[in-house]
Amino acid sequence: MNDPNAIREHIDVLLSQMSVEEKAGQLTQFFYFGFMRDIPPGAAAELPMSNQPQHVEEALARGAAGSLLFVREPAEINRLQRLALEGNRHNIPVIFGFDVIHGFRTILPVPIAMAASWDPETVEQGQAVAAREARAVGIHWTFAPMVDISRDPRWGRIIEGAGEDPYLGAAIAAAQVRGFQGAGLGTPERVIAGPKHFAGYGAALGGRDYDEANLSDYELWNVYLPPFKAALDAGAGNVMTAYMPLNGVPATGNRWLLDEVLRQTWGFTGWVVSDANAVRSLQTHGFAQDLAEAGVFGLNAGCDMEMAIADAAYAHLPAAVADGRVAETALDASVRRVLEAKLRLRLFDEPFVDEEHAQTVLNDPAHREVARRAAERSAVLLRNENNLLPLDRDSLGTLAVIGPLADSQRDTLGPWCFEFDLAETVTVLAGIRAKIGDRATVTYAPGIRPAQRAFPSMFDMFGGNAPEDPADFDDAAELQRAADVARAADVAVVVVGEWQNMIGEAASRSSLDLPGRQLELLQAVVDTGTPVVVLVLNGRPLDLRWAAANVPAILDIWYPGTQGGTAVANLLFGDAVPGGKLPFTWPRTGGHIPLIYAHTTSHEPERQDRRYWDEHSTPLFPFGHGLSYTTFAYEGLRLDRDRIEAGETLTVAVEVRNTGARPGDEVVQLYIRQRHGRAARPVRELKGFRRVTLQAGETRTVEFTLGPDELHYWHPLERTWVIDAATFDVWIGGDVTAELHAEFAVQNSAG
Ligand code: NOJ
Repeated sequence: MNDPNAIREHIDVLLSQMSVEEKAGQLTQFFYFGFMRDIPPGAAAELPMSNQPQHVEEALARGAAGSLLFVREPAEINRLQRLALEGNRHNIPVIFGFDVIHGFRTILPVPIAMAASWDPETVEQGQAVAAREARAVGIHWTFAPMVDISRDPRWGRIIEGAGEDPYLGAAIAAAQVRGFQGAGLGTPERVIAGPKHFAGYGAALGGRDYDEANLSDYELWNVYLPPFKAALDAGAGNVMTAYMPLNGVPATGNRWLLDEVLRQTWGFTGWVVSDANAVRSLQTHGFAQDLAEAGVFGLNAGCDMEMAIADAAYAHLPAAVADGRVAETALDASVRRVLEAKLRLRLFDEPFVDEEHAQTVLNDPAHREVARRAAERSAVLLRNENNLLPLDRDSLGTLAVIGPLADSQRDTLGPWCFEFDLAETVTVLAGIRAKIGDRATVTYAPGIRPAQRAFPSMFDMFGGNAPEDPADFDDAAELQRAADVARAADVAVVVVGEWQNMIGEAASRSSLDLPGRQLELLQAVVDTGTPVVVLVLNGRPLDLRWAAANVPAILDIWYPGTQGGTAVANLLFGDAVPGGKLPFTWPRTGGHIPLIYAHTTSHEPERQDRRYWDEHSTPLFPFGHGLSYTTFAYEGLRLDRDRIEAGETLTVAVEVRNTGARPGDEVVQLYIRQRHGRAARPVRELKGFRRVTLQAGETRTVEFTLGPDELHYWHPLERTWVIDAATFDVWIGGDVTAELHAEFAVQNSAG
């Protein structure tokens, strides 16, 4: 149903017939953890986990649940939907949500990797595949994209976002929404997108997940909010709140965020869901006095739906309506938004899913191709001395593959996936073997045992999450064997990084070191004298200072997903050419955090590399960095006008030439700097980018426009968007250090 009048009338009728309890039910979303039936009572201390599924089924049977999450099998989805419809005298179906973060069955590279492609089309295609698979099993709505800006890689959830930059973040956010939702709510084979976590979650104190965020309005408007705005402009139907207090007021009970910004300023008409148990947390934060008050604060702030494990705060809303703490009109407004989504999805007409068709979609080989291509396009070549890469498969006798991560299917996929198929997951080792195994010898040695977390992960309940610690592993002998294997080879590929359970939600880290004995392993391999290629499996920058000084080639492959090994083998042997770029500034060491490129010029800028006395303050690799197997030259930077009025737009053009001998991709990046004005603005800000493929010798003209959207900023004192009369620098190049320069002036100010 897409006729707004018909939808409104349908909702009016329903609201006139629903009890307050039924309305509160529509605003309650439950996890459904079928496997918890097997957990003995008391084993999971905090919540009544073992009766959790039973509790939810009881709620469904009395029409007291509007949505479920975490159900992934089509037959189970149909069964629960049937229960819901039987239990709801208005025949209101439940809407199924899930964390479809980087694929459902076909696992794509992790989101930070997709952002490193700097290619909105690849991102959109990837999320369209994810949506198709999820929708085929009966999931209607994804808790994605995560559009939180993250400037602190200690924060494990940096892996779920697009990095440090609001401009790149906005472009990637919008592309994800387009991929998930297609033409909008109700598009076949798509799901509703819910950008999260609104807002400021990535600024957790110390990078410790869930800790408070304290952000000035200046940072919020200029840095943290733009990706949300872009996701909403792309049509996102839902928004998820954040866990932490923002400037003292918990985000889930923060009326300024949820009402003033989201609805009144931006005109968002979709529904807001809390993060899991975040309404309950209003009490934990010392904000609400009890669970009932938490529900009141959540709803009155603008959080329409509560995501809960068992004991919902919104179950207390009927009492709050009765005693006047919540107006029934406010309750109705929230229910209206939820029902509208269900109607626009045509859920009332088609509540069930075709179980057989689901299998066909999940097995679609075209999806694996999209994943492979995405993995190729997201890899970032950090270093390639003397063109060690690509390797020449014809002259290679023996290739050694070293490191436990090279042979781990689970770790190839990364965190935040649950429905993957390990049997079809291609590791780096398997990918290399498949590619050259028939003509060269591929040897393998793990060298060390997998590193372990100091504390268990919250995802360990899903099984297979933590790497096994092998029994009978002779550490000294294995390290020696790895060195021997490397010594006997023509080239050694060493895979280093973090095990996937070391990054993601509740997986913050106090250092960026390579976990376990990986550095020692790498050093032992390099000591053999065999040329070494390092592959990095990661979702955050790691301390690669030693590798960057001692290893000729470093390729960042992130957690590349289902087809990761195939993609990596293609990249290593030149059947694919790396073209990804870093979506964050790569610090030298953990003590550098936070390190961003868009800082302001401060006192004694000429000594800015000496801010620390014990280490350079400059990054190990700059924002936007990424090499290719070919080289590019930039020339002819020109502007169509060198003076504009505030509000006008100018065009910037540049010629990019592939100066090498093979085809390759370059991400052309445009940065500006406002030299003076009503605020001290960043030394550089990304304001345009385009990924282009150029044949050897080919030249392409790339054009960008600079107008009010690129030149305005939110002023901290005037508390509004302004454009300053100022001179602006423009640089275009292949990373943030671009030197090709032009300038223009804005003649008058605005705002
Ligand atoms: C908590 C996470 O913060 C959020 O991102 C996720 O969507 C929910 N759990 C549901 O799994």
